[in-house]
Amino acid sequence: MAYGFAPSALPNSPVPPLILASLRTATGSAHRRLEDGLALLDPPLERERFARTLVGFHAFHRAWEPLVERLTGEAAFLAPRRRLALLEADLAALGAEPARASDPIPFLTTRAEAWGSLYVMEGSALGGLVISKVLQGADWLPKGGLTYFNPYGRRTMTEWRTFLARLEAIAAQEPEEEIVSGAVATFAHLQARLVPLEEAA
Ligand code: HEM
Repeated sequence: MAYGFAPSALPNSPVPPLILASLRTATGSAHRRLEDGLALLDPPLERERFARTLVGFHAFHRAWEPLVERLTGEAAFLAPRRRLALLEADLAALGAEPARASDPIPFLTTRAEAWGSLYVMEGSALGGLVISKVLQGADWLPKGGLTYFNPYGRRTMTEWRTFLARLEAIAAQEPEEEIVSGAVATFAHLQARLVPLEEAA
């Protein structure tokens, strides 16, 4: 089920910064492809499908969080944005085994690419609001919901704007094409990593 996404759908959004416009243009179709491929919200809402996807994200975050912290040098800014513990709590609540391996992430090697990758993962919390809302009807949903998809709750838009302000400042120092290529590569990795799990299921 494709919800698609349009920049104008952001509530109270000022004119988007240039870097955001470039990221949206470069990754819009990849977002739709990933959303379609994961098919998370296709009825019936399946516990197993969510568990598989969360295991895949767990393997990704295990390697991605320390790598992005190292490349950006932003430990303090990133600490409240870490989602590994949320993934582990969700998997435990679903009775699913966490991933044992970590994804290799050779496509992120620079500070600029890491910020582009952060755009993808921070942006996923916006779609997570939709996912959390739809999931509310699922009879297997753990108490408290699946926190990975909705890490910030009511603070989501505030956290997003804080992130965008920082991203804009970084974009003034770093090559735009590298930020964009980090985001494009992250979507490509997640597509290659997560969607085959669904196709094989
Ligand atoms: C069922 C799965 C998904 C749904 C239904 C969904 C839906 C959405 C929605 C509704 C928005 C907000 C659009 C707006 O208000 O402008 C959004 C934004 C976004 N999502 Fe997703 N999404 C899904 C999965 C993902 C995944 C897996 C990722 C990446 C890991 C992702 C990355 C993003 C990004 C980067 C944005 C920010 C776009 C921007 O404002 O620049 N989404 N998504």
